Amino acid sequence: MLTITDLHVSYGNIVALRGVSLELAEGEIVAVIGPNGAGKSTLLLTVAGVVRAKQGEVRLGGASVLGVAPEVLASRGVALVPEGRHIFGSLTVAENIALGATTRRDRQAVVADIERALDMFPILRERYRQRAGKLSGGEQQMLAIARALLARPKLLLLDEPSLGLAPLIVRQVYDAIFELKRQGMTILVVEQSVHRAVAAADRAYVMNSGQITMSGRSSELHGTAAFDAAYFGVDAGKGAR
Ligand SMILES: Nc1ncnc2c1ncn2[C@@H]1O[C@H](COP(=O)(O)OP(=O)(O)O)[C@@H](O)[C@H]1O
Ligand SMILES: [Mg+2]
Repeated sequence: MLTITDLHVSYGNIVALRGVSLELAEGEIVAVIGPNGAGKSTLLLTVAGVVRAKQGEVRLGGASVLGVAPEVLASRGVALVPEGRHIFGSLTVAENIALGATTRRDRQAVVADIERALDMFPILRERYRQRAGKLSGGEQQMLAIARALLARPKLLLLDEPSLGLAPLIVRQVYDAIFELKRQGMTILVVEQSVHRAVAAADRAYVMNSGQITMSGRSSELHGTAAFDAAYFGVDAGKGAR
């Protein structure tokens, strides 16, 4: 469903991606794991059309989408839950969720989708009329995902959903990600923290300094010395932990 080929992205003189290639089949969860500054957010922002690539190809369902505007990509089913969540703290939970459906005209289906999102995250039902700024970090992450779901995405891009969350909350967020996969969603998730994402994903790519340094089935990557070397960089691989 998503094919990225030889993607190069720079911010002025700063090279963020140097020839990234990656594939994501329909219904798969794929994780991209890498340290801070590896280029993970840039990868998602480029797929979502927010950041422009210098070179390479991004194909969505067979069609080339590089250079297509973010609104157009959203209407074609690409939803990004950005790093830091970007929820509106002064708006209520209800209002934030509704923002995910602003371009939809099928009101009754929207109401049903809100119910489904609240079933997935019952805490949001409890907090429905509260200001989003009062939510905990984990609740805000759930809200950001719920809002993205209201657009009925075909491809969900999750940027560090576990960042800054306590382990129990991370588990709740990943339980929801699992549930979305069970429902057939295609998900590309990027994380610094290795364990949860790799455990959840069908396959994982390791990214370091703008390049994919390793890839494979999650179960085969995790805990191997080669994985550590790919994550930390070849030199830092030995004894870095
Ligand atoms: N808006 C920006 N302007 C300039 N440099 C940026 C910008 N965003 C990211 N970078 C740089 O691009 C590289 C990759 O960043 P990023 O994609 O955010 O990595 P990650 O999400 O893996 O931490 C880093 O060197 C970072 O400093
Ligand atoms: Mg990032």
